[in-house]
Amino acid sequence: MTASSKELSQEALNLASFSFSLEQKTALFTQLKQQRGILFQRDIIALCNEHKLTETQLLKACVPVASLFSVAPISQFYVGAIVLGINQQGETQFYFGANVEFTHQALSLVVHAEQSAINNAWLNGAKSVIKIAISDAPCGYCRQFMNELDTADSLEILLPEKHFSLHDLLPNAFGPKDLGNEISLMSQSASTHQFSGISNACDETLIKTALNAYVPYTGNFSAVKISTYQDGDFYGSYAENAAYSPSLSPLQSALSQFYLSGLSFDDQTVKSITLLETEDAKNQLEVAKAVLASFENPPAFEYITAALIK
Ligand code: THU
Ligand code: ZN
Repeated sequence: MTASSKELSQEALNLASFSFSLEQKTALFTQLKQQRGILFQRDIIALCNEHKLTETQLLKACVPVASLFSVAPISQFYVGAIVLGINQQGETQFYFGANVEFTHQALSLVVHAEQSAINNAWLNGAKSVIKIAISDAPCGYCRQFMNELDTADSLEILLPEKHFSLHDLLPNAFGPKDLGNEISLMSQSASTHQFSGISNACDETLIKTALNAYVPYTGNFSAVKISTYQDGDFYGSYAENAAYSPSLSPLQSALSQFYLSGLSFDDQTVKSITLLETEDAKNQLEVAKAVLASFENPPAFEYITAALIK
């Protein structure tokens, strides 16, 4: 064994050895709900110092806390994932994610934990995804979803016992370039598009979120806003995938963000839902209705379409 591989295996042992106590996990979960599923650089530094951990050790130790956000009434299989990403200011942040299931609806509507964490990073302006730590091996669909990232070639996947590159787990991959698409999730620059004839009453953030959708395959710039009575608004954007099926609809994206604040989706909490999509490319109304049909007493639903000026 060479010195460096000895060090590596020692580091791997260290990585496996730290876990938070129940009390620490509960405190972290409370903080994360308030911060809508993000651990900021200042929190990461403080926790690394307090527990004498490297950033990667902390990332892995936080995964069981990510699983606490899971909403899995069908499988009771609580998956947690955390993206280590870099924000626009160059700071390291941890973006949490967990799976979300919908009862009495097609299983294909589930949001996977990895999608949830990447969506969280993307919507909150991360400029790159460096690593993702996950509680369980990522399924084929998630490997494909991750392959849409501009950092797919260097992405590290950290499982509790072993680390991989995305390439290890998805050799001979199919991706955006196979469809002639040169942009990728998170590489796209700020949108220069606009909607025409949209009501002045329409929420500015909803419009901006729709225009920032990643829609290289259908052009359906679309977004969803979930308004709550007391806990503010939550937004989600459409994120397409070259293999189509792993795409994340704007309502799934918004719901995943909503659940990362630990709220429960009921008529006491949620006031209304608004879907905004592009007139010529619309394709989100039926899937939104299907997802909403999963809830008892679904909230008021507003539907807006608007023409795009390119
Ligand atoms: N799940 C994930 O969140 N990620 C994976 O890659 C594996 C599967 C979720 C989906 C579903 O909610 C549950 O685990 C059972 O498959
Ligand atoms: Zn998956």
